[in-house]
Amino acid sequence: VSTCPVCGASGRPLLADWFCGAGGAGLGYLLAGFHIVGWDLEPQPRYPGCFVLGDALEASLDGYDAAHASPPCQAYSLNMRCFAKGNPPQLIDAVRDRFQGSGLKLWVIENVVGAPLPRQSDLWGAHGIELCGTMFDLPLWRHRLFETSVPVPLPRRGCDHSTQPLNPFRDNRPGGHTLERRYRAAMGVGWMQKMEGRQAVPPAYTCHIGRALLAAASDLEAAS
Ligand SMILES: C[S@@+](CC[C@H](N)C(=O)[O-])C[C@H]1O[C@@H](n2cnc3c(N)ncnc32)[C@H](O)[C@@H]1O
Repeated sequence: VSTCPVCGASGRPLLADWFCGAGGAGLGYLLAGFHIVGWDLEPQPRYPGCFVLGDALEASLDGYDAAHASPPCQAYSLNMRCFAKGNPPQLIDAVRDRFQGSGLKLWVIENVVGAPLPRQSDLWGAHGIELCGTMFDLPLWRHRLFETSVPVPLPRRGCDHSTQPLNPFRDNRPGGHTLERRYRAAMGVGWMQKMEGRQAVPPAYTCHIGRALLAAASDLEAAS
């Protein structure tokens, strides 16, 4: 368990949250038991942990116990690619190189479906998981892929698209904004503003992953 380079706190395992936005993913790790340090190119006054303004790829991972990255998805998402100006950056390979080269035993890379991330563990030693809001009893069809350095079990409840989810993005009727606020509340990111919420990872996803990382860490410690 390390000391936070920003506030000096110690007592919880320390997680670097790269491309943190307003902290949807970060809050999940906080709830799982980590101390979180977010990095983003834009100021994030609503981030629920310690925050550093800057390019995540320049950040040092020395002294951290774990790392998560949510690099921009525009290059990987069919929907977003049409709105992107120029060539949006593809940062997943650079992030994976940094994480694998850091010696960290616990790391996670998140992105949209369509990104080059494994959906499950494979024979070559990669680990991945695909999560949906319905697995956590949330009224959301919001699929996200997570590549992980250690295996993470699927939630007990499977994905269930038999009920109609909230879908504010296609609702142009009067009241669409109210619906978007309800959607953010349902995601568990009620403190966020509109564009922050649209990019966020529901904290339930990373709380599940964070708990699995902590369980893996204690298994590794027991084995050593
Ligand atoms: C998908 S959003 C992150 C969402 C966040 N993980 C959440 O769950 O709320 C991507 C973020 O990456 C930031 N970003 C883009 N390039 C960056 C870079 N090189 N270094 C740090 N942050 C960057 C953007 O400002 C944006 O806030």
